[in-house]
Amino acid sequence: MPAQPLSSTTSHQARKILVTSALPYANGSIHLGHLLEHIQTDIWTRFQRMQGHTCYSVCADDAHGTPVMLKAQQLGITPEEMVAQTRAEHHQDLLDFHVNYDNYYVTHSDENKVLCEEVYTRLQAAGYISQRTISQLYDPQKNMFLPDRFVKGTCPSCKSEDQNGDSCDVCSATYDPTELINPRSVVSGATPVLRDSEHYFFDLPQFAGMLQDWLKSGAIQIEMANKLQEWFEKGLQQWDISRDAPYFGFEIPGAPGKFFYVWVDAPVGYMASFKNLCDRQGIDFDEYWAKDSSAELYHFIGKDITYFHCLFWPAMLEGAGFRKPTGVNVHGFVTVNGAKMSKSKGTFIKGRTYLNHLNPEYLRYYFASKLSDAVSDIDLNFEDFAQKVNADLVGKVVNIASRCASFINKRFDSRLSNTVLEPALVAEFQAAQTSIADAYEKRQYSKAIREIMALADKANQFIDANAPWVSIKDPSKLQFTHDVCSLGLNLFRLLMIYLKPVVPALAQQAEQFLNDSLTWSSLNETLKDHEVNSFKALLQRVEMDKITAMVEDSKENLAPTKTVDPNSPLLKDPIAPIISFDDFAKVDLRVALIAKAEHVDGAEKLLRLELDLGGECRQVFAGIKSAYQPEDLIGKHTVMVANLAPRKMRFGLSEGMVLAAGPGGKDLFILEPHAGATAGMKVK
Ligand code: 2FM
Ligand code: ZN
Repeated sequence: MPAQPLSSTTSHQARKILVTSALPYANGSIHLGHLLEHIQTDIWTRFQRMQGHTCYSVCADDAHGTPVMLKAQQLGITPEEMVAQTRAEHHQDLLDFHVNYDNYYVTHSDENKVLCEEVYTRLQAAGYISQRTISQLYDPQKNMFLPDRFVKGTCPSCKSEDQNGDSCDVCSATYDPTELINPRSVVSGATPVLRDSEHYFFDLPQFAGMLQDWLKSGAIQIEMANKLQEWFEKGLQQWDISRDAPYFGFEIPGAPGKFFYVWVDAPVGYMASFKNLCDRQGIDFDEYWAKDSSAELYHFIGKDITYFHCLFWPAMLEGAGFRKPTGVNVHGFVTVNGAKMSKSKGTFIKGRTYLNHLNPEYLRYYFASKLSDAVSDIDLNFEDFAQKVNADLVGKVVNIASRCASFINKRFDSRLSNTVLEPALVAEFQAAQTSIADAYEKRQYSKAIREIMALADKANQFIDANAPWVSIKDPSKLQFTHDVCSLGLNLFRLLMIYLKPVVPALAQQAEQFLNDSLTWSSLNETLKDHEVNSFKALLQRVEMDKITAMVEDSKENLAPTKTVDPNSPLLKDPIAPIISFDDFAKVDLRVALIAKAEHVDGAEKLLRLELDLGGECRQVFAGIKSAYQPEDLIGKHTVMVANLAPRKMRFGLSEGMVLAAGPGGKDLFILEPHAGATAGMKVK
């Protein structure tokens, strides 16, 4: 018999919604900080779809910019290759956390290029673009302009050494990189020089009034709108939207050698990812992006990128004649055990490392139980995490099913009874749909979870009070026991409908067991005289040792210890302490014997070398494939930087660097010391 409606569902107007999450950079892994946002977005999207609304969600990898370009160079691959690989990894990580975007694209795409050009030419035609020459620090060795974070030096204020190009970690002073004392390029170690270049600017100040109105429209949390006032008080500035070659990005039309700054093409990437989806699925792009669009557009972002999304982006959209976002939903950062995520403590946890140890639905549930519409940081406390998941999901919700299912399966032929024992209790569960939906809608997930768990407590109290494990022994109470267990499973069903946006995989298992679809519109139904499937354990408890193992796996050994042969010349003349790339000038050069050389699968330019330093063996990936066959190198001596910090590359750890000279290609010569040199000997 089909499920019976108890009361009619309230009808409402279907909405058209487009949702985005911030685009992860293509030069790093997805970590728990990213996942807070993707899970927050995914829960909201799933909830909207359950309400019967059309809700598309898109994301992409943020492919462009200097850091991506330099990382690809370090790996010896093209940025396109690196981005393609990282995009695939990111997408898989997200899917494995049950985060399902309608499209997970990449900003280095044809659609994005076309849209960036369109936005730009419209802004230019409307008079919002100007040009002017500016002076910037330039790396004369790398032949490139240096973004602030690629310059380091001594703080002009407190004189602390090794400070960033824009601010001092010691005294918090902010400054222009040209003010640093003894500046140096992080890329090459060279002393930067000032060089002029023509830049393109977007006329942000023209949009001050519009932006103030938009911020007041409720598009953003009040606390963020207030914070943004600081920018208006200081006065909005012309925004520099161009970067000089070499730059991995899109060239600006009519401006050879000039590229769009990554923060121009990244948000346009939201449109481009959606455009790609529209073209594949026949969706009307303009319905969502035209100036007069009645669709809703929401961006989920972290608080650090608010001004890009709430100043530059709406102004660009307005200036180019597109619609503006309906809302920008800002969240705080993730801390772990009350502190900033740390690589050495093992609390900087990558999504993949988490998945190697724990069920993704635990994290989805935990984040949901902590998330609200506020911008405050979210702490992932491991003990609280285990306690909450075990007490709530396993101990309360799944427990309801496991307490009732075996009787239904074994004693009642897997059929639910035809009677609703306590209609008032069912009605109470159903009535909660309005406030639970309201909480989801407002991104007050922690409130929704509290309400759902309060209902779960009531379901457990109902089962405790009626103790089916006692009444089952009394043949005269068989119908009663059947009714109690049937109601227990119906209450479990209602709870799982409410939890479905948060724990979709658990909900799917529940659907399989209940032999029913968990839809919001079926909340007002109860299953009567309905056959269920045999019950299998739905969720394991979180085990603390799995968390410990995950933390251990996340610890980065920042200064690996090495074993040295007691006869090694290194003992007489020990290798200098490990230095950072910045301290390259203090380099410790050593003669090394090339013990082994081989090709690296998938690497265009790299050879893998095993270098013998006279008792200690080092693995080095060297970009010399264009000039050498591996077999020609084996047995030769060369010179290596012996105290360069090991660097994790896509293919493994590179524990030094061989010195080579030449213009490149076939003309790249490794340094070969005099025949009397022995492995491990100091070169200078
Ligand atoms: O901050 C970041 O990680 C950026 N990659 C986010 C870009 S979001 C958008 F604007 F594309
Ligand atoms: Zn300082």
